[in-house]
Amino acid sequence: MKILSVVGTRPNFMKIAPLVEEFEKHNVGHVLVHTGQHYDREMSKLFFDELEIPKPDADLGVGSGTRDEQIKSIKEKLEPIMNKEKPDVVVVVGDVNSTLAAAQTANKLGIKVAHVEAGLRSFDNTMPEEFNRIETDKISDFLFTTEKSGNSNLLEGGISKDKIFFVGNVMIDTLLRHKRKARQSKILEKLYLGKNDYCTLTLHRPSNVDSKKDFEYILSILGKIQEKIKVIFPIHPRARKNATLYGLDYKIKNMKSLVLIEPLGYLDFLCLMSNSKFVLTDSGGIQEETTVLGVPCITLRKSTERPVTVEQGTNLLVSVDKDKVVEKVISVIDGRADLNGKIPELWDGRAARRITKILLGNR
Ligand code: UD1
Repeated sequence: MKILSVVGTRPNFMKIAPLVEEFEKHNVGHVLVHTGQHYDREMSKLFFDELEIPKPDADLGVGSGTRDEQIKSIKEKLEPIMNKEKPDVVVVVGDVNSTLAAAQTANKLGIKVAHVEAGLRSFDNTMPEEFNRIETDKISDFLFTTEKSGNSNLLEGGISKDKIFFVGNVMIDTLLRHKRKARQSKILEKLYLGKNDYCTLTLHRPSNVDSKKDFEYILSILGKIQEKIKVIFPIHPRARKNATLYGLDYKIKNMKSLVLIEPLGYLDFLCLMSNSKFVLTDSGGIQEETTVLGVPCITLRKSTERPVTVEQGTNLLVSVDKDKVVEKVISVIDGRADLNGKIPELWDGRAARRITKILLGNR
């Protein structure tokens, strides 16, 4: 059995780590390819080091660009590698451009595709990730889902039942494995923070930071929130670039209780989230991580592809409306928010084990 896995962006690294570990345990021939979609040290190398992911066998170095440029370049560079390695299965994770490009390359060459985190749907077609999810699922042979909504979405989309496997969440495998180590992080001391006396903010969705008007509106919300609680903002390169492009840097700097920091490594960020009063985000994965940590998550989006985090977890989907967000923040600070923190089914640290068993059983 030979597996070739493809990763490209920060959230992919947490998802591949437990799989690589399982593949090694079972002596599976494994080739790891990094597309290079994310390339900054703190967006990439740091995660390989902290999560002990082996150095990729190949780095395509595609870097930034438009979506079409990224996908085209990944396909061109990946095809000869897949032709040479001739894997039985190509594993892709998540919903980023690298995920779709790798799935399409494998599909073209007649190699089976395993999609980890299949079936999630926001039903918002303006999100690039939604397109990537749908197109990747269409051509996958193994569809590994994290929550039951994924199974229903796939069945409704006409995917055959025998290709769908509800296995749990590999991102949570990684979180549970590193939780203890993250407690040793010195990030709170470094930033002079105490448990629950701040909130953590992440922001990078195109819908929030890719136009001056939207970004400015978000900043006006943050202006209100930082009057109530200190906001720690490890800024994503996309948001940083656009803040400068739109001349919004000064607005961020003028907010006295909004603390801008560089993107953090996995362990520091996990520690920061775990001790936050709440997290404010437009990320997908963070909605899941906060649910497992039992930390309230206020999601600055209209929709979520991860409904189980709202139904069972600590996720409050608030959309991007100033009054609603501020009201929610106050209710969380005052302890009035209605949050039941159940851990979703099979988010137990064993998803990678289940996936490996299924892949090996289908040789
Ligand atoms: C990508 C994913 C998104 C995921 C996110 C996690 C797609 C469509 N989007 O978005 O789903 O949630 O990763 O971070 O695949 N940049 C750097 N250094 C880096 C990486 C990016 O400076 O290491 C800057 C570049 O200016 C680049 C911009 O960030 O143009 C956006 O990067 P890109 O990979 O296109 O998308 P993300 O916004 O990171």
